[in-house]
Amino acid sequence: MGIYNFSAGPAILPPEVLEKAQNELLSLNGIGMSVMEISHRSAHFARVLESAENGIRELLEVPENYKILFLQGGASLQFSMIPMNFLKTAADYVVTGAWGEKAVKEARKCGTVNVILSTKESGFRSVPAQDELNFSQTADYIHYCSNETIDGVEFKYDLDGKGIPVVCDASSNILSKPIDVEKYALIYAGAQKNIGPSGVTLVIIRDDLLEKVPTNQFSMLDYRAIAANDSMLNTPNTWGIYLISLVCEWLKAKGGVSAMARLNEEKAKILYDAIDTSDGFYSGHAEKKARSLMNVTFRLPSENLEKQFVEEATLSGFDGLKGHRSVGGIRASVYNAFPKEGTRALVEFMREFAHKND
Ligand SMILES: Cc1ncc(COP(=O)(O)O)c(C=O)c1O
Repeated sequence: MGIYNFSAGPAILPPEVLEKAQNELLSLNGIGMSVMEISHRSAHFARVLESAENGIRELLEVPENYKILFLQGGASLQFSMIPMNFLKTAADYVVTGAWGEKAVKEARKCGTVNVILSTKESGFRSVPAQDELNFSQTADYIHYCSNETIDGVEFKYDLDGKGIPVVCDASSNILSKPIDVEKYALIYAGAQKNIGPSGVTLVIIRDDLLEKVPTNQFSMLDYRAIAANDSMLNTPNTWGIYLISLVCEWLKAKGGVSAMARLNEEKAKILYDAIDTSDGFYSGHAEKKARSLMNVTFRLPSENLEKQFVEEATLSGFDGLKGHRSVGGIRASVYNAFPKEGTRALVEFMREFAHKND
């Protein structure tokens, strides 16, 4: 039985990428050694790193005055590294979900954090419009999460900091659509959804921010030192970076992020339409205009039915649908590599399930 993998992350990777990696596992490009066996300082790996960096730069049209870095420690380490480097007076945080909250918790250990807007009271179902945001004039930076993976809410615009540096956690929607990189000072993302395997964090950072890193910063937390050493201050995750280079090649062959955006709109619509036409059997968590194209979150009439739904779905070959342990419900994650036919198949399963259990 084929499996449709709806995991929120680590998540489905393009089968073509896995096949290429399998073919090259023992001998990268015919060199007679695996990518996992060669020095990160070798010319062979230099080509891999360059290809991953150029791939991201090309796909997201990253201007020359930004560095592309591959770090470790997950997106979670960025929750700490960002304030450790850039929080001097105070920082503004916009909180639209569980990950934004975690970012605040870490930043508070470093200094003053102003949560200028939080949608927690209303259950993390919406995102603010740009004109609802009033930034503190003294903020060192503004932090927000462009797609809250657990709650399934997504910003539909690139936030404008009006001169204040914008820092964005784009872990779960990066490469899913074109973005205007110039609106941001720093974008970060754990790789394990749309970019590659876990264990690598992508950071896109504007050059002027590097100058603000404290001179006594610990080396492994120092963006400037990492950038100066081309992400190789220590041994990087060579295997992860290799897979990123393959994912970038795959994305380019598929028409890049604009083509992905169209496909992602179509896939999400199939699922949201099924929710909206279920006569209330399924209810979407997010407000319609904030609905994530990557993580479709919804509830059933009872927790028992949700449990049964997940069990029966798993038996039918739909994996990873259980909502995050903190919120419950159902979550269908449909990242770039998730096939459209999988959304159609799930919708069919949902209709049958509702019919049997209504
Ligand atoms: C939006 C978002 N931010 C941060 C994280 C944490 O990422 P990591 O596990 O790489 O630290 C996740 C993980 O799923 C996420 O979805």
